[in-house]
Amino acid sequence: MNTKNVTDPDQVALIKKNFNSITAENDMKPVSIQPREGEFHWENADRIANFCRQNGIKLRGHCLCWHNQFSDWMYTDKKGKDVSKEVFYERLRNQIHTVVNRYKDVVYAWDVVNEAMTDGPSRLRDGSEPNPYRQSRLYKLCGDEFIAKAFQFAREADPNALLFYNDYNAADPAKRDRIYDMVKKMKDAGVPIDGIGMQGHYNIYGPSMEDVDAAITKYSTIVKNIHFTELDIRTTSEMGGQLQFSRGEQKEVPQYIKTLQEAQYSNLFRVLRKHRDVIKNVTFWNLSDRDSWLGTYNYALPFDVNYKPKNVYYLIKNFKPELDNAVAKEDFQPSVSNQPGQQYPMVNSQGYARFRVFAPDAKSVIVSLGLGGRGGTVLQKTKDGFWEGTTEGAMDEGFHYYHLTIDGGMFNDPGAKNYYGSTRWESGIEIPAHDCDFYADKAVAHGEVSQILFPSKSTGVNRRAFVYLPPSYDGKKKFPVLYLQHGWGEDETAWSNQGHANLIMDNLIAEGKCEPFIIVMTYGMTNKARFGSIQKFDYKEFETVLVDELVPYIDTHFKTKADKANRAMAGLSMGGMETHNITLARPEIFGYYGLLSGGTYAPSEIKCNALPKLIFMSCGSRENPDRVNQAAEELRKAGFNAVSYVSENTAHEFLTWRRSLREMAPLLFKK
Ligand code: XIL
Repeated sequence: MNTKNVTDPDQVALIKKNFNSITAENDMKPVSIQPREGEFHWENADRIANFCRQNGIKLRGHCLCWHNQFSDWMYTDKKGKDVSKEVFYERLRNQIHTVVNRYKDVVYAWDVVNEAMTDGPSRLRDGSEPNPYRQSRLYKLCGDEFIAKAFQFAREADPNALLFYNDYNAADPAKRDRIYDMVKKMKDAGVPIDGIGMQGHYNIYGPSMEDVDAAITKYSTIVKNIHFTELDIRTTSEMGGQLQFSRGEQKEVPQYIKTLQEAQYSNLFRVLRKHRDVIKNVTFWNLSDRDSWLGTYNYALPFDVNYKPKNVYYLIKNFKPELDNAVAKEDFQPSVSNQPGQQYPMVNSQGYARFRVFAPDAKSVIVSLGLGGRGGTVLQKTKDGFWEGTTEGAMDEGFHYYHLTIDGGMFNDPGAKNYYGSTRWESGIEIPAHDCDFYADKAVAHGEVSQILFPSKSTGVNRRAFVYLPPSYDGKKKFPVLYLQHGWGEDETAWSNQGHANLIMDNLIAEGKCEPFIIVMTYGMTNKARFGSIQKFDYKEFETVLVDELVPYIDTHFKTKADKANRAMAGLSMGGMETHNITLARPEIFGYYGLLSGGTYAPSEIKCNALPKLIFMSCGSRENPDRVNQAAEELRKAGFNAVSYVSENTAHEFLTWRRSLREMAPLLFKK
């Protein structure tokens, strides 16, 4: 916190609502308190301490001895000559005693020594080990003894405060070992170190959670308190507490970067919860992106530049405890919708999906599939250039579209088959459903799905449709027809590829559950609608294609019962909206209406000359199911034959619509 944070009423309210411990960002550092010998500046530090006293918020003291922002006068005498270390210690003791005593009543933990260890790998290029200590002026004057002295002075001044050694890159294995060795050596020699502060100036690419976990595990063998003292997660690849860094650019943060940051924060807090016996504090370094020492455009914090919580704030707060301990069963099998010979993606018996992608030079790989609230599953780089990851929990049963985002670019998973959705051929994965039998390819008589091209005067081209002919279609007997529409982003291939409409029909017919009928599936021209303006979509063009061009074509080229009593229209999602509008606009054409996650009819909308034989409305249980149930109830009260159906534990996805077709088909064209 800075003094503005604790003064501005809005920020004060935000602090009081969200935090029970704060740290002064700069105002308790030696350079702020005593920039010149004997010249003390207490005003800012007092303001922050008083804020804590008044509001019952705890204060972490930061920091007593650091090579930066230090009282550099301590090193030299009046003539500018270096002092002896005895003189230096006397000055340091005086400084530490004065500050610690002043805030004893409110500070419960002090960062006593900050950043005394060196960065970099455990071995230098020539194979030798680097000096583990930072080659600072402190070290050059005193060796590592200044560490022991600083802790000793702090303990003298306050026997009760928790005393911390604080550093950045403390999860890096080489630096971790240096920190560990130093703290262990000090503690063994009786130096009063109570805890280790892991600053946590991280970024969206690292450190790995394995390294964080390993560091906490190692530190917790020598200290009982570990504080995350300065947490922020940059959207660049820089890391650490160095005071030189890039300030980022003012530009919209791409979604994939937000996803990486959300995953890094969520995964970190998951590790912290695992170690809740030692992790006693998490402090964010600054209140919001506006205050961030990294500048606004590193977007490093859970509160944005306007002090509004980002999605990451909610992910940190509203974690699902049951997922913390969830362990995926290791019975993964290649997904049934994989490309030939491909092992990945895999699915386990609980419905977890596991992905593995080769992208040796990529910086990030995200799978768009994951549990709610997250932008997907962030994969981790493994050896040999592969990226791997498993969904955080079990997915809903059924079919899911997905894609990969590699360094911000969108790609399909080379392991999975593609299905037309989101106006492109997307990867698809099948989480086996407990009731998958009804759309399985079984040893029953099969109908056929054939492609037709029908002329369309109104659009000036031949248009494509797929026609399902039931097994008993022999070119002589006449059949009723269902016109079945896909949703936004999809096309005429959807109902047979990802919907398995033909298999569902074959199975229903084989079991004698449903009258055989023809299904016609054509492109509903929905993809001209841009997302967000779908309500304004003009269905008239498609009405002409369907009713004035396709229906007559089907009735002349196939053996159909060509009347309203033998014609149905149904559609999913945006195809339901088309169905709704076209059936109402052309009441003489269709006798059965079906909206699958595609809205509802109200009694008042249906003209008295229409009188459909059936209105079927359905959706998934995760899609506001009350709406279809209530609409059906109202229609029934008004005298219509209306049926609603809710697919359990599914959302706006194809298992909902497969099941809906299974429920609707037996109700159509009943003799
Ligand atoms: C930073 C402050 O946030 C900046 O305002 C100041 O200019 C430099 O120091 N590690 C630490 C903190 O321990 O004290 C540093 O704070 C960030 C790195």
